[in-house]
Amino acid sequence: MVEIIKTGIPGLDSVFDKMGFIANSSVLVSGEPGAGKTIFALEFIYYGAKNYKEPGIFISSEQSIEKIRELAFALNMPLEQYEKNGLITLKKVNISKGSEMIPDQIMNEIRAKKPKRVVLDSISPFELLAADPRDFRFKLLSMLEEINKQGTTLLATGEKRLTNFDRISFNPEDFLFDGLIVMGRQRKTVNYQRVLSIIKMRGTKHSEELHPVEITENGLRVLTIK
Ligand SMILES: Nc1ncnc2c1ncn2[C@@H]1O[C@H](COP(=O)(O)OP(=O)(O)OP(=O)(O)O)[C@@H](O)[C@H]1O
Ligand SMILES: [Mg+2]
Repeated sequence: MVEIIKTGIPGLDSVFDKMGFIANSSVLVSGEPGAGKTIFALEFIYYGAKNYKEPGIFISSEQSIEKIRELAFALNMPLEQYEKNGLITLKKVNISKGSEMIPDQIMNEIRAKKPKRVVLDSISPFELLAADPRDFRFKLLSMLEEINKQGTTLLATGEKRLTNFDRISFNPEDFLFDGLIVMGRQRKTVNYQRVLSIIKMRGTKHSEELHPVEITENGLRVLTIK
């Protein structure tokens, strides 16, 4: 039987026939600026700890740990008690040319603790700093392989510039992950609506719909139009 990692993100698990991510897989959440990628990733870690007592490490390559804590707090996801009891660990990585996607020190911690969930928010700065696209792809592949050996489920975020849902443009990295979720906006007369689409999820059937997404003071939720 395949082990399932329930994301716990409101409204998300039921879009997969297996009711969650396949354990030990890697999922890329990509989308436009402000689409809700960081909040999505934060909820994956928060609900993992809160609902399933599963330890998670949130690695931020962009925002500071303080900013991540503030964002979580504003969305009614106080992290403090989980940071205290060790279920949630926040890490900031400082990147420069040639850095590994997950620095050795954090990778060693992952090897030792084997957390159920790891987030890398985001992979895009590494692309910017890579000597060439092959270097970025190679680094990504070796990181995915290493994480996979630890029995951890990885959720990474990344930028996607074109999220016109009628013709999404795919990047090379989209092919390397087991799952791909695209987040963006669609214009509805004078308003925009946040939407999400599951492009692929190896090993499980999933919804083929465009799901509206809501972000309120209680966080992000995925809706299904019946
Ligand atoms: N407290 C809040 N209440 C309601 N909506 C919020 C709140 N905080 C953030 N948002 C919404 O969430 C958006 C930011 O979400 P998030 O940081 O997850 O986006 P992102 O996709 O990671 O963006 P980027 O590509 O810039 O990293 C904001 O632009 C805002 O619309
Ligand atoms: Mg972000």
